[in-house]
Amino acid sequence: MSEQRFRLLVESVRDYAIFMLEADGTVATWNAGAERIKGWKAEEIIGRHFSVFYTEADRRSEKPKRELAVAMRVGKYEEEGWRVRQDGSQFWASVVISAIRAEDGELLGFSKVTRDLTERRAQDLRLQTAVAELSKSNRELEEYASFVSHDLQEPLRKMASFAELLRAKYADKLGDDANKYIAVIVDGAARMRKLITDVLDYSRIGREAVPMGGVELSEVIALVLKDLDLAVADASAKIETGELPLVWGNRDRLVRIFQNLILNALKYREPSRPLVVRIGARSGGGDAVIFVRDNGIGFRQEQAETIMRPFQRLHTKERYPGSGIGLAAAKKIAELHQGRIWAESKPDEGSTFFVSLPKAAP
Ligand SMILES: Nc1ncnc2c1ncn2[C@@H]1O[C@H](COP(=O)(O)OP(=O)(O)OP(=O)(O)O)[C@@H](O)[C@H]1O
Ligand SMILES: [Mg+2]
Repeated sequence: MSEQRFRLLVESVRDYAIFMLEADGTVATWNAGAERIKGWKAEEIIGRHFSVFYTEADRRSEKPKRELAVAMRVGKYEEEGWRVRQDGSQFWASVVISAIRAEDGELLGFSKVTRDLTERRAQDLRLQTAVAELSKSNRELEEYASFVSHDLQEPLRKMASFAELLRAKYADKLGDDANKYIAVIVDGAARMRKLITDVLDYSRIGREAVPMGGVELSEVIALVLKDLDLAVADASAKIETGELPLVWGNRDRLVRIFQNLILNALKYREPSRPLVVRIGARSGGGDAVIFVRDNGIGFRQEQAETIMRPFQRLHTKERYPGSGIGLAAAKKIAELHQGRIWAESKPDEGSTFFVSLPKAAP
């Protein structure tokens, strides 16, 4: 009874071809999956040798016989390879052949389980191609970046230094207008140089692996403020720093984030009121959330996401200098730390930038 139930079960399986071979390799049983995958009906295939499932080349090299020999010797033969359907088409098969022996060791035959992996193999290949294309375009991007750095910086340096030379040697011989034009060239060249280095730095963030570890954010902020002390004095800004957590990350990268946030707070200040910048943390859940708040010019809340994208700026370069890369870089760095950056702002009241970062165990 239970044997019959088992046979019915095997016969009804559709995803796998499950069948038996006699000891000499002729097909002895057939199930629904075998018919579906290979095409033959039971009455068409039972009694025929199983080598019809193999390609011409495999048959000629006696591969079917060798597979049975391996199964006989070690009990099992497994592989993935091309097999042939009744209509002559080929499919990529996963094959397991097991030897079946009587209690006294006599070989009774073989069981064979075959799965059609053509679609999976095609998917694997598509994935491999996509990965190869992706790393190729990454490589091209890197080459492009180094082209930008060297080939573009060199002529730029030449233009800047010759404009500088003109100014130094001929300032008193040239008229006011000419001197003004030269100043514009020098200034433009300096801005372009900064843009190039900013873009290069930005493209490097994701490409270069950096060491990660516990980082005291209070040290990061102290470093940044020391670096920016002239700019802080220039803006007559009052900086208030609250208690800051220990986070998991890379110190240099975190310095970059807060350098830009604090520099932005200084840059986009409202001249009609004294600038106050508050830096602190609020602890919510597993992540630390650090904020940088200013009472500067602010922006409309709808623009909060746009400004995180590269080159997105709300003001002209004449009014506020900058490349429009700072927040995009901060976003990329935060995401590489499994964190996030977002902003709340109101025009003419001020802005708060939030950065969430994973906390580190003390
Ligand atoms: N604290 C802030 N208050 C008001 N506007 C801000 C503030 N921070 C950023 N912005 C707006 O977001 C834009 C993008 O900022 P981001 O730091 O990415 O670029 P940037 O400061 O213009 O140039 P840089 O690449 O040199 O940092 C700014 O041009 C500005 O319009
Ligand atoms: Mg900035």
